[in-house]
Amino acid sequence: MKNKRIIVAVDGPAGSGKSSISKEAAKQIGLKYIDSGAVYRAITWYLLQKYNTKLNPKEYINDLSDIAISQIFNIDGSCSSFINGLDISEEIRDIKIADNIGVVSDNIQIRNYVNKLLREWALENSIIMDGRDIGTVVFPDADIKIYLDASVDVRAHRRAVEYREKGKDVDIKDIKKQIALRDKQDLSRPFGCLKKSPDAVYIDTTKMTKNEVIQKVVNLISKLQI
Ligand code: DC
Repeated sequence: MKNKRIIVAVDGPAGSGKSSISKEAAKQIGLKYIDSGAVYRAITWYLLQKYNTKLNPKEYINDLSDIAISQIFNIDGSCSSFINGLDISEEIRDIKIADNIGVVSDNIQIRNYVNKLLREWALENSIIMDGRDIGTVVFPDADIKIYLDASVDVRAHRRAVEYREKGKDVDIKDIKKQIALRDKQDLSRPFGCLKKSPDAVYIDTTKMTKNEVIQKVVNLISKLQI
């Protein structure tokens, strides 16, 4: 990678392949991968532990003063999340997190807190970060912005395969409903909603293989190094 710090922003809806594509591109090019969704998940996990109940919309920002969130992009291409040193990478993928995360990711103060953290994490390295608002809000000056998309059916199918690979028995109809709901929440969020930045490269992955998408993303980023 050339000397200048490079910022790659990858946005798109749930199940569009953002994280797996970004991690693989990071490995191939030598970038640090940062998972912004995992930060919202970590905060949701923490608040659920603290209140031990379904979360209600309220000001949670004061609750964040005594937590330290960190992330490590591992050599094997996986990404680990920590709160106060505790590894919660598995816990934040629980369905309970997805059911409660809306209250957290709709909160403007929490969003500002997360955005500050994400920008700090990107200070030292060339990075690729995935999320919903990376190219629009977190890094509007990113060196390259990529928006990954795919039909709801294909996204639901990919998610179901992921769950099954982890040994979880899932019904594709439930996954499709969950994805449609996530789309609705992501698109209607008052701040930091899912939106393609006008200067983002749009990639419809519906009919592409994972390797084709990785190659396309790697090629786009590689052009920056000239
Ligand atoms: O990418 P993910 O599914 O792990 O994200 C979890 C949730 O966090 C998702 O419901 C939307 C929210 N999110 C967000 O609001 N802004 C981001 N930059 C990333 C995720």
